[in-house]
Amino acid sequence: YEIEFHESIPSTNARARERAEAGDRDVVVLADEQTGGRGRLDRAWASPSGGIWCSLLGSPDLPPAHAPIATLAAAVAVVEAVETVGVEAGIKWPNDVLVGEDERKLAGILTEMAGEHDRIDWLIVGIGLNANVDPEALPAGATSLRALVGDVDRRTLTQALLDGLDDRLGAPDSVLEAWTDHSLTLGRRVRVETQSETIVGEAVDVAFPGTLVIETGRGRRTVTAGDCEHLR
Ligand code: BTN
Repeated sequence: YEIEFHESIPSTNARARERAEAGDRDVVVLADEQTGGRGRLDRAWASPSGGIWCSLLGSPDLPPAHAPIATLAAAVAVVEAVETVGVEAGIKWPNDVLVGEDERKLAGILTEMAGEHDRIDWLIVGIGLNANVDPEALPAGATSLRALVGDVDRRTLTQALLDGLDDRLGAPDSVLEAWTDHSLTLGRRVRVETQSETIVGEAVDVAFPGTLVIETGRGRRTVTAGDCEHLR
């Protein structure tokens, strides 16, 4: 991968998208600070200086319909990377990385893709990891490595994260088992808001390429995308 570093940029995902549209591939865009960081569902993503804000642009050998596995892979890579600095994190479906009893958010992932039929043209996996930042600079419910274990070596951690992600993208069949090992969602009562409805029930399984299986009491439902809340 070519590494493109910015002290400050609106959004590494937006920059990666420019590179994708220019025909580039295998690029990692990194920034110390983002001034217009974006989250899922068009939310803003606080990205003060000191975090790990990065976007990996590639063209993995996956059909577009399997792209969700890349998002789960990224969550696994984040959990495994932060383990190396002594932080035990878990994953809320599909890809929120949370820590502690009160499930504070440590990292989020935003995936973008283009492609049709049987081939992904490009895939951008954007990862925001609250590293050396004050939790006060983050939204309520979020935390940072600084708050948990003190400041970390961002270079080493970013390298571990990107290596792990690259490994997982090359072995998509390994992802669900690793994801399940770190899941906070399976076995929980959940409320999932999809584009068209709200489904409440027990999360019983995750299935390729990343769907959540919910036992509602009136049968099983499988959701491919949505906002998930843990109920108890
Ligand atoms: C979420 O809503 O949980 C996803 C947050 C994703 C944030 C990362 S930070 C690097 C990359 N650039 C962005 O603008 N967003 C992603």
